[in-house]
Amino acid sequence: MNDSPPLAGRVVSGMRPSGALHLGHFHGVLKNWLALQQEADCLFFAADWHALTTHYENPGQIGELTLEMVIDWLAVGIDPERATIFVQSHVPEHAELHLLLSMITPLGWLERVPTYKDQQEKLKERDLATYGFLGYPVLQSADILIYHGSRVPVGEDQVAHVELTREIARRFNHLFGREPDLAAHVHAILQRLEPAAVARFQTLRQRHQEQGDAEALAAARQWIDGLAALAAIDRDRLGAHLEGGARQILTEPAALLTRSPRLPGMDGQKMSKSYGNTIALREPLDQVAQKLRTMPTDPARVRRADPGEPTRCPVWSLHQVYSDATTQSWVKDGCRSAGIGCVECKKPLMEAVTAELAPIQARAQELGADRGQVEAILATGAEKARALAGETMGEVRRVMGLRAP
Ligand code: TRP
Ligand code: SF4
Repeated sequence: MNDSPPLAGRVVSGMRPSGALHLGHFHGVLKNWLALQQEADCLFFAADWHALTTHYENPGQIGELTLEMVIDWLAVGIDPERATIFVQSHVPEHAELHLLLSMITPLGWLERVPTYKDQQEKLKERDLATYGFLGYPVLQSADILIYHGSRVPVGEDQVAHVELTREIARRFNHLFGREPDLAAHVHAILQRLEPAAVARFQTLRQRHQEQGDAEALAAARQWIDGLAALAAIDRDRLGAHLEGGARQILTEPAALLTRSPRLPGMDGQKMSKSYGNTIALREPLDQVAQKLRTMPTDPARVRRADPGEPTRCPVWSLHQVYSDATTQSWVKDGCRSAGIGCVECKKPLMEAVTAELAPIQARAQELGADRGQVEAILATGAEKARALAGETMGEVRRVMGLRAP
């Protein structure tokens, strides 16, 4: 993990173990993770418990799929020196927080989550009328809140879950952030600070609370933020004193909507395993070339002499991801004038995809041959994650009134 302080809060994201990943995952999710690990403190985990919420009937493969997926993460460059990489079930604190959050989560909130009904419809062959499936967004909330994640990179389908996470955090803070002995804590903290500054703070607080003076509030907040010698919890307490509200025990995260191009599959639909139109990251390169060669083109372009229209061609969608402006205009002009043939048009794509995959495959092969190395990375990641999760859980147990062991 980074030793330097993160620029803009902690990034937390999970992925269900789906085994070997494909180009859709790479362009849709992993490239985004690669960029984030450069600038922020990141935690990336394999959400194996989440997989059980829908695949509990034949879980046999989950462990294997988890390892294969992590190999692909590492192969594309997710870096254990920069990001904490681990398996959800190796950090049982997620389950404990899930349980505690379930106490305060109204049923109605869960029934309203759009994926609840959608997935039940979509996966009709499975019985998803289970307790675990209904509660799955609470588990996801625990995954995020346990690390004080402030940014959660997700696809569109997951935004509602991050929104629920925010609601749960707010409810938690409202219920448990009101420390019965807040006044005593605040008194003790203020006694340790410089009297003149404290007097000024109290005046600002009074102006905020009695006259709704926004400038006074801002000035007082700024003073609190600058008290670098205080522990974070004590700065939070001063904030609660200032605003007459609850302490932020759990941090409300924001969804970081992944804005990457949707990679088309070999048939022009979204690339997805369920459509059988993928190119796997570890697919043999001659097979990749074969898939691109036989990829359908503009159906109107029957003969080489027929002009085509790129916007009706799935190959063009790939060019939009892989090719630079020069190549793109070469494709558009050449296609519309029948100046180039489809085989020719696909050639730069084949080169680009091959150049992208070759180093990933070399690295994946090394890792696959040394699984011990991958397991060691996961063990170190779980240890780091557990240390962070343990801190949050100590605080959560305490404010929920549980007796320390
Ligand atoms: N629910 C996510 C999915 O199915 C995976 C996930 C689990 C997740 N926990 C998370 C994503 C926490 C972001 C943050 O894709
Ligand atoms: Fe598609 Fe390229 Fe053929 Fe045009 S030339 S139809 S863009 S493959």
